[in-house]
Amino acid sequence: MVRNFEFDIVIWGASGFVGRRVAHHMAARYGSGGDLRWAIGGRKQAKLESVRSELGSAGTDIPIVTGDSHDVASLEALAARTKVVCSTVGPYAKYGSELVKACVSTGTHYCDLTGEAHWMRKMIDAHQAEAEKTGARIVHACGFDSIPSDMGVFFLQHKAKERYGIPCSRIKLRVKAMRGGFSGGTLASLIYWMQEGPRDPSIRRVMTEPYSLNPKGQRQGPDRPQSMRAVAVKYDDDLKGWTMPFFMGPINTKIVRRSNALLGYLYGEDFGYEEAILIGSGPVGWVIATIGALGVGGFMLALALPPTRWLLKKFVLPKPGQGPSQRVRENGFFDLILVGKLGEGNVMRARIKGVGDPGTESTSKLLVESAVCLAQDSEKIAVGGGFWTPASAMGELLLLRLTTNQALSFELV
Ligand SMILES: NC(=O)c1ccc[n+]([C@@H]2O[C@H](COP(=O)([O-])OP(=O)(O)OC[C@H]3O[C@@H](n4cnc5c(N)ncnc54)[C@H](OP(=O)(O)O)[C@@H]3O)[C@@H](O)[C@H]2O)c1
Repeated sequence: MVRNFEFDIVIWGASGFVGRRVAHHMAARYGSGGDLRWAIGGRKQAKLESVRSELGSAGTDIPIVTGDSHDVASLEALAARTKVVCSTVGPYAKYGSELVKACVSTGTHYCDLTGEAHWMRKMIDAHQAEAEKTGARIVHACGFDSIPSDMGVFFLQHKAKERYGIPCSRIKLRVKAMRGGFSGGTLASLIYWMQEGPRDPSIRRVMTEPYSLNPKGQRQGPDRPQSMRAVAVKYDDDLKGWTMPFFMGPINTKIVRRSNALLGYLYGEDFGYEEAILIGSGPVGWVIATIGALGVGGFMLALALPPTRWLLKKFVLPKPGQGPSQRVRENGFFDLILVGKLGEGNVMRARIKGVGDPGTESTSKLLVESAVCLAQDSEKIAVGGGFWTPASAMGELLLLRLTTNQALSFELV
């Protein structure tokens, strides 16, 4: 059955900190009144009108859709009106489940910014079979976690196959440099996970098991839970420097492993993948890496313990709706290196760069391009309905959009 949609994309949660940036980038890149029919949505009409007015002339004609994450009928009505829902309403485990269900049942494509692995697992288990029937393509993790990692590995593996005829059997990602901030919603998601974790042992299992997002029967491979230890400091022989854990590593690596499984083991069944932050060489590098790792570990511990969590929430951390200043957002960036190893000592390296604060500006551009890809490249996307990763759903189509529209750069080095 061919459905007629009123909209190609609805940006759901456009009144939030990141949602506003998504609407801004959508307007700046695609304007209004053109080929792409998009709308902004959320729970409060007045707030959405103020978002629209901030978009200037590009936003004048943008329609507004209202609803509530806890009002199922409003979510079903939303999903029925659009080809793609692009959601920035989080914590997703708290506000996202009914929307995913509505998209799956109406056959509406969906993308979001979640990095909440346990919630993704829950959604896949609950709705995969129905999404296959209705044709809804559901793509989580379309922000800084996990597009640079997922698409970076996809890019490097294609180059490895072109050059050597085989993929890299090991790839590691190193964060060479990064600057930016966190939005209140990101911290709210982390805190929500910290609060729910002790009550539900399955959450901890999904977080610590490297292949927990893979389909059933495909949850084995060379990577071990130890590779995700929070405070490990190691020396990287290839890049000659000390490394500390990358806080996004636990989710990014799971997405990359799921991509490999969903792509029919395009990277090989023995493919291993890990991520870390590259600090520097010598004793100074070790000291900084150790302090950094202990700092991140201490912060996570403080968030896990109710009294310190309360203090951090009350006096230190940004609240939902808040986020980094314009200066921080505009001056932010990231620079990632991927090192891939093939047999016979062959090594390939790729560099991925993004401009703008990773957690807000860059993330917004990545989500915009994912949503537009799902909407406009729908006929070209090879896979049917189901829960996908960015690389397994959109692969080269998304790579082309990201590079053409300067959302990310990928190069072999
Ligand atoms: N993957 C990444 O790299 C990345 C980066 C940044 C953020 N994120 C994720 O993106 C999400 C949003 O972050 P944020 O900082 O933008 O959060 P935020 O500012 O708190 O925005 C949350 C949005 O959810 C809406 N909302 C809350 N309850 C709702 C309900 N019952 N019904 C409908 N809408 C509701 C809010 O509406 P009101 O305005 O009406 O309150 C707001 O629009 C978080 O889950 C965060 O973890 C991911």
